[in-house]
Amino acid sequence: MRGMKPVLSLPARVPRTDSPEDGDDDDRFSDQLVEAFLEAYTRPGDLVLDPFAGFGTTLVVAERMGRRTLGLEILPERVEHIRARVSDPSTVIEADARRLATLDLPPIDFTLTSPPYMTRTDHPENPLTGYQTLDGDYGRYLDELTVVYGAIGQLLTPGAKAVINVSNLRTGGTVSPLAWDVGAAVSRVLRFEQEIILDWDDPEDWYTNDYCLVFSSFDDESTGAAGRA
Ligand SMILES: C[S@@+](CC[C@H](N)C(=O)[O-])C[C@H]1O[C@@H](n2cnc3c(N)ncnc32)[C@H](O)[C@@H]1O
Repeated sequence: MRGMKPVLSLPARVPRTDSPEDGDDDDRFSDQLVEAFLEAYTRPGDLVLDPFAGFGTTLVVAERMGRRTLGLEILPERVEHIRARVSDPSTVIEADARRLATLDLPPIDFTLTSPPYMTRTDHPENPLTGYQTLDGDYGRYLDELTVVYGAIGQLLTPGAKAVINVSNLRTGGTVSPLAWDVGAAVSRVLRFEQEIILDWDDPEDWYTNDYCLVFSSFDDESTGAAGRA
């Protein structure tokens, strides 16, 4: 049994991305970050969910480490991209995570994602439509993330953790405390356990800091004894 603070086997400076050649500016995890969380919080055979699968980093690394995987992604071209990277394309579902409760998903042993980001003001693009519509609304965005994580909470097995990677965003002279706002919003439906500060090897000037927020289910009586390993 591990203590409350997970032992993440990460270097002091974390590599930020493994695939800069893709040519777009949507952030992705490094394999090393995913490996460290899977090592700390899962066992082989566990089911790992990424509800905002993006380029599939969580799923590809989890598969490589002998975990079962499930990914949701709203943009068809990204779904295709991920399906080409994993060994079982049927584990990648083209779906809107906001409808997760209707998808009849199995129990989840761990979830790790970086949701699409949004600033508090001047952000008409809606992150939760993959920035495809101009009806962005910060309050609704936070509420909808709460809906996603409320549904995930219903699926978490005993001891399972939900980890959200999110930054506080610097735009011009202002900072949107997105990490705090997402943390507060998701805390309405999941129990907040701790934040892990990511000290990236090449930090961006558009955030003040980057975090992984760790949650568990309110129903989970094993909370405090973090980790499944
Ligand atoms: C920041 S990216 C995740 C990147 C991922 N961590 C990686 O390393 O590849 C967020 C992803 O969420 C997707 N997305 C946005 N809204 C969504 C929704 N409502 N349901 C599912 N996926 C969504 C976006 O299309 C985008 O690919």
